[in-house]
Amino acid sequence: MSDEAYRLTSPDGSEMELPVRKGTLGPDVIDVARLYREQRVFTYDPGFVSTGSCESDITYIDGEQGILMYRGYPVEQLAEHSSFIEVSYLLLHGELPTGAQLEAFDNTIRMHTMLNEGMLSFFKGFRYDAHPMAMLSAVVGSMSAYYHDEMDASNPEHRDIFSHRILAKLPTIAAAAYKLNIGQPFIYPRNDLNFTENLLHMLFAVPAEPYEIDPVAAEALDLLFILHADHEQNCSTSTVRMAGSSGANPYSAIAAGISALWGPAHGGANEAVLNMLEEIGDVSQIGKFVEKAKDKNDPFRLMGFGHRVYKNFDPRATIIREMCYRVLQKLDRKDTPLFDLAQELEQVALKDEYFIEKNLYPNVDFYSGIIYKALGIPTSMFTVMFALGRAVGWTAHWREMISDSKTKIARPRQLYTGPAGRDYVLVDKR
Ligand code: CMC
Repeated sequence: MSDEAYRLTSPDGSEMELPVRKGTLGPDVIDVARLYREQRVFTYDPGFVSTGSCESDITYIDGEQGILMYRGYPVEQLAEHSSFIEVSYLLLHGELPTGAQLEAFDNTIRMHTMLNEGMLSFFKGFRYDAHPMAMLSAVVGSMSAYYHDEMDASNPEHRDIFSHRILAKLPTIAAAAYKLNIGQPFIYPRNDLNFTENLLHMLFAVPAEPYEIDPVAAEALDLLFILHADHEQNCSTSTVRMAGSSGANPYSAIAAGISALWGPAHGGANEAVLNMLEEIGDVSQIGKFVEKAKDKNDPFRLMGFGHRVYKNFDPRATIIREMCYRVLQKLDRKDTPLFDLAQELEQVALKDEYFIEKNLYPNVDFYSGIIYKALGIPTSMFTVMFALGRAVGWTAHWREMISDSKTKIARPRQLYTGPAGRDYVLVDKR
């Protein structure tokens, strides 16, 4: 808290001081909590472009400088030296683990990968072609029906058990959804494998023959999960916090976050990018699609471009572009038409006045789909992959929200624009 304040003069001339609060980094915030009580006005900010909804110690983003840090550590350093499991510990507990803590945490996650057998029967009820995000959200929501025994949100031990279950069981649920889609038997987890190896095993192994895990694929997924692990108060994370603020069961709050992530303006963009690149098809068509994206009368947008916060570059996109190149090389792909097309599209857009003026740069979703595709992961599973990385961020935010004494039920206000009051008219008189 600082002594600085904004002075607000109301139309009737009365004055009010709005305190300014300072974080460790980033813009100050004007604390408007007393505004309605004292002035009888609300603030109005559709999409929360200028509104902070909470205090948070977890993630810092500087959209102008292209900086992303988890608990103060730059994502570039974590991407180079850490692992997804270590980053998960960091996000959940606030500090990097010691060797012993890391081993214990890794072991705990490995030991929680199985689902209650009853949950598997849900998958028999879904249509074979159900979108895996629909199944993920539904089955995670149903965890509140299976794992309610140890879910007293005021108990830190229960909060840990919840966190471990979310992190460990989501890959198992995701893989079961995929197996349903392709008509193959569900593959049980193997706890001798690490997080990403186990995911690849559950996605691609079949009972009829041995499956060899490609270390390049496991490493690439681990890095992608690190880059997706958290992104402060984005749409899905805010959804988790909002749902959780009512005291709702946290598994349901995570299910709400999964639903929010699915939209094409958010995590669904990685699937939309791949579909867009396939629709563009050839570099000769790029100009036509860029013109469509600029046309105000055309709803088409360049998917994977633009970001609410990053107005310079998305640091995740830079790492992913580099990794995309490395993965394709390691997989010995000589023919990389989608990657070539994406790079050319990026170049054309970055030189275009429209994209320059509006600060539209490739975001995290622009290149990730090309890597997923190279690893054999189908397009419909791309947003599920995003969810597997982001789930730990949602969980860290839920933990922070529920243990913050300042948390109130999230309840925005509105500017009412409907009829100003009228009398009911009986149906035969209308
Ligand atoms: N293609 C063409 N025009 C665009 C694009 C785009 N991808 N993105 C924004 N614009 C234009 C938009 O039409 C608007 O123009 P004007 O000011 O003339 O009305 C201006 O740029 C600002 O756009 P906005 O929608 O007001 O900006 P926002 O901060 O509300 O939205 C966004 C950010 C990410 C939703 C948007 O850039 C977008 O729809 N991008 C495509 C979808 C996408 O890639 N989403 C993934 C985001 S990163 C990962 C994640 O969050 O999950």
